Order: sequence, then structure tokens, then C-alpha cells
Amino acid sequence: MARLITGEELEEDNFETSIRPDSIDEYIGQSELKENLNIFMKAAKMRGEALDHVLLYGPPGLGKTTMAYIIANEMGSNIKTTSGPAIEKSGDLAAVLSTLEPGDVLFIDEIHRIPRFIEEILYSAMEDFKLDIIVGSDASSRNITIDLPPFTLVGATTRAGDLTGPLRDRFGIVSRLNFYTEEELTQIVLRTSRVLKSPISEDAARELARRSRGTPRVANRLFKRVRDFALVMGDGNIDLNITKVALEKLKVDEAGLDATDYNLLNAIIEKFNGGPVGIDALASSIGEEASTIEDVYEPYLLQNGFLKRTSRGRMVTEKAYDYLKKNRQDTLF
Ligand SMILES: Nc1ncnc2c1ncn2[C@@H]1O[C@H](COP(=O)(O)OP(=O)(O)O)[C@@H](O)[C@H]1O
Ligand SMILES: [Mg+2]
Repeated sequence: MARLITGEELEEDNFETSIRPDSIDEYIGQSELKENLNIFMKAAKMRGEALDHVLLYGPPGLGKTTMAYIIANEMGSNIKTTSGPAIEKSGDLAAVLSTLEPGDVLFIDEIHRIPRFIEEILYSAMEDFKLDIIVGSDASSRNITIDLPPFTLVGATTRAGDLTGPLRDRFGIVSRLNFYTEEELTQIVLRTSRVLKSPISEDAARELARRSRGTPRVANRLFKRVRDFALVMGDGNIDLNITKVALEKLKVDEAGLDATDYNLLNAIIEKFNGGPVGIDALASSIGEEASTIEDVYEPYLLQNGFLKRTSRGRMVTEKAYDYLKKNRQDTLF
């Protein structure tokens, strides 16, 4: 079964588009980002220019894609979307760029996965709105330059560190999205309940928020599942009791940790004496990809003090020992 408690996108996420806020006022939290963007967007409109390029980074499920669409809406622009993995040859990028119209937003998801040799095409496109391409092959090949209309590139990535310096430098607005507070997630759950017309009590919304790993995508996904329990086991109204029962059945604990989190923390404690352990050794010991651990599982565990990163690898914290009720003595030799 696919992991429920992941910020990663899953097949079922078509439902996400239906509950996505489409104006900046409906976008809950991330107040610093919103305030800044509001000013930059207003200024760009007053000058009649395209908004500066925007780079959004942070763990999956925090609202990067949502914000890209909101920027286009607020600017009254069209949005064209692609992603790093979809761009394999320079022609793929040139094709997208050449369809841009003045003021358009070009959203590139997972922008860190654009191959390095193609990245360079972006430099002049972003800086000078020019597209340099090579036409023909071998002896008859030549460079041509095509003028592009002013546009706004919105890039999203879970790994800002994987972007090259030159690419990162070409974004005028760079913003990190943070985990949401319990209060913000409660508001998000209540909003989702209104949009889907599935009533939830305030205390149940708060309980869901508390167990959602600071992540709107997780909150919405849990909401959807709890709604099913409420419908089948109750009268459709989501109250605190049904929420707790559902979350227990879904094996999401009080802190929002699930079986994979337990696996990961237990592996470090039991197989590596609490760490430090390198990410690759850890990954193979629990049968996960190292990059998935880094991008998806670990950020929340780090943020909440269950795990720490040292120069020699990952270590569990005192808090993790206490939380998992593990005896530290057990692991000393
Ligand atoms: N600030 C927010 N306010 C309300 N809902 C949000 C917010 N951020 C994200 N969401 C919800 O969470 C889901 C996942 O957000 P998304 O933008 O796809 O995340 P990302 O692109 O960072 O992985 C969206 O469907 C949206 O409904
Ligand atoms: Mg996204």
C-alpha cells in the first residue's frame, strides 16, 4: 500500500486540484512569502512588467505548486507547466520556451532535475529573454537567437542545494517554504471541509492538524480518509472520536509518525547503536531510496527533534529514545 503519510504526490492526487486555493488570500500560512510576493506582484503590475523569476523550495506537500498557480492567477497570466524530468534534450526546453506569451508564468517543477547541459539555455532565457539554439547538424549547424517575450519562471524544488549557483542566482525571488503550524493546518482542514461540504468539528480538525507532519498535503489526505470512516461508521459528520479511531486504524500516531518513521528510527537504534550512520547504509537497511529518505521522511523528523544530522551521518536523539521507549543502555557496549 502506498504510504499515506508522505508529502509526495500520489495517483489519487487529482482530488488536490479541486481543493487548491486559487488566490493568495485563501493561501493559509507562509506569511512572509505572501507579504513579499504581494509587494513584488503589485510593483510588477504598476510597472507593467512581468514578475521577477521565483524559486520556491522546501519539502513536498507544502504548497509550491499551489503558489505557482496563484502567482499566475494574481498576475492575470497564463501558466505553462513542465518539470525537470520531462526535459531530456535542449529541444524539449526550447519547445516550451517558444510557446510563451508576454507575461506568462512558466512553472518548472523539480527544477533541480534539469540536466546541467540544458540549464545553460535557461540562463539567457531568464536574464535576457533570449533563446539561443543550434539548428542543423555537423558542418551546416549554426547558432540562432530568438527573442522571447518577458515571462516569469517559477521553479520549485525539494533540493535547493542541487541547483547550480548560476541558475539560482538568476531568480530574483527565492523563498523557502516552512512546515505549517498546528493552527494553520487546522485552518486548512476547516477550509477543505467547507470546500468538500463534509462537516468536521473544530477539535477533530485540530487533531488532524496535529498529526499531519506540518504538511497541508498530508492534512488533506488524512481528512479524506477520516471522512470515509465517518460516513461508513457514523452519520458522515467528522467528530473527534471518529477521527481518533480512524487515525489509529491508519496507524498514524500522536506525533504524526507512521510505520516507516518507526522503521527508520528503530533501525538507527537497533542496527547502528543510535548512529551516526551514513544515509546509504541507513537506506539499504530499511529498503528505501536514500533520496526519498532525505526529501520526504527525514525533514519532519529533523524539524521535530527525533533525528539529527552530523558530519558523520544521522543520529537519533534523546527524544527519539524516550518517544520509542527504548533504553539507551541497551545499545551501549
Ligand atoms: N497554504 C496553503 N493553504 C491551503 N492549502 C494548501 C496550502 N498549501 C498547500 N495546500 C494544499 O496542499 C496540497 C499540496 O500542495 P502542493 O502545492 O501540491 O505542494 P508541493 O507542490 O509543495 O508539493 C494542495 O492540494 C493544496 O490543496
Ligand atoms: Mg508540487
